[in-house]
Amino acid sequence: MKLWGARFSKEEDKKMQEFDNSLPLGKRYYREDIEGSMVHARMLGNCGIITNEDSAAIQKGLSELLDEIETGLLIIPDTGYEDIHSFVESKLTERIGDAGKKLHTARSRNDQVALDTKLYCKKVGNQVIGELEKLQQVLRAKGEANPVIMPGYTHLQRAQAVTFKYHLNAYEEMFQRDCKRMVNSIDVLDESPLGAGALAGTTHNIDREYTSKELGFKNPQKNFMDAVSDRDYIMEMLSDFSIIMVHLSRLSEELILWCSKEFSFIQIDDAYSTGSSMMPQKKNPDAAELIRGSAGPVFGSLMSILTTMKGTPLTYVKDMQLDKIAFMPALDRVLDCIEIMRGMIDTLVVNKEMMTKSVDKGFLNATELADYLVSKGISFRDAHSIVGKIVLYCEKNKISINEVPLSEFKKYSVSIDTDLYDYIDYKNSFKKGIKKEML
Ligand code: ARG
Repeated sequence: MKLWGARFSKEEDKKMQEFDNSLPLGKRYYREDIEGSMVHARMLGNCGIITNEDSAAIQKGLSELLDEIETGLLIIPDTGYEDIHSFVESKLTERIGDAGKKLHTARSRNDQVALDTKLYCKKVGNQVIGELEKLQQVLRAKGEANPVIMPGYTHLQRAQAVTFKYHLNAYEEMFQRDCKRMVNSIDVLDESPLGAGALAGTTHNIDREYTSKELGFKNPQKNFMDAVSDRDYIMEMLSDFSIIMVHLSRLSEELILWCSKEFSFIQIDDAYSTGSSMMPQKKNPDAAELIRGSAGPVFGSLMSILTTMKGTPLTYVKDMQLDKIAFMPALDRVLDCIEIMRGMIDTLVVNKEMMTKSVDKGFLNATELADYLVSKGISFRDAHSIVGKIVLYCEKNKISINEVPLSEFKKYSVSIDTDLYDYIDYKNSFKKGIKKEML
């Protein structure tokens, strides 16, 4: 059943109908569509554009429709209607008769679809924020349970001692900014397009302030043409998703490295690993790999909407219908990835001994030794050079810095004394200067 057709003298081509069908993904915002229509109908009644009886009948019909869909009594099909808007209006009119035909007064599917997608983005945006917050909690708890000293890296070369807790905290911070970005995106899109009509408003005296407020927006969008023709909020949210995926992917990469025999820092729980069909001993970090790989399709979605929109003239064009193909799968993937990451972090086991032991190799306290020399009045550049020579000596003799005897140290600098050993002890270094913040 179509919302148009009178001016056509020929049936739409079957393949064309399938090609144009946006129900399979559009039906995800049936709730937003129905709620938007209910408020619209109420406003039409309040403004005397339709009678209060018609308005009430429409609202009642829509609310019953919503109940039936929510309880599973009415299943929204994948075909047979052009889109979710056509489905809802057709069903409504089937049920309540002529009053249903008045719902679309002073409205176009162009402002309607923008309204639905904006409401949907607000809802799922907040859902993503909620999931990120849960992940942050798990990262914090895992860190707090494991304040283990481990090597910190630059260039993937052992650099300075850090703690596992602090390392996880870095990701917590990244996800905090991701939440902020999401909140900001929701704030930017938080204006109602309803009432913009097809592109040029309407001759009816509708109350856009009312519908905007009732639907939870800050205010109505000012320019009608803009209101129906941008999808920048989809682009922005997909950018946010992409950045979330960058962070999840980097964390995945580290988990993959850490669970390898080469590192042996952690064990990923069996629940998030899989085996090999040929090599019986294998336990693979598939969950982490799938998250790392999932950055691909999510970035792809961002590229997809940017490219789809870049050459479209104002105002609404059907290209925009493809926003769903970009947005929905990316949303699902991001939500899945956050949830799986949470489970994986929650269940992983830290190999404390291995982490702590690894700090001993790689001269991770060389910088602290230089700091010690500075504290004795030597310039940092000279200290750097002295320590470089000491490291060379250690490498030759296959010992770590703390194993160098004092007499040997003295050859490099007379300023070195027995208090040095305490100074460069990893555990003590965290008690000095701003390193205290790391604990
Ligand atoms: N199905 C369209 C979409 O998902 C909404 C309808 C747009 N309006 C129109 N005149 N075809 O974007």
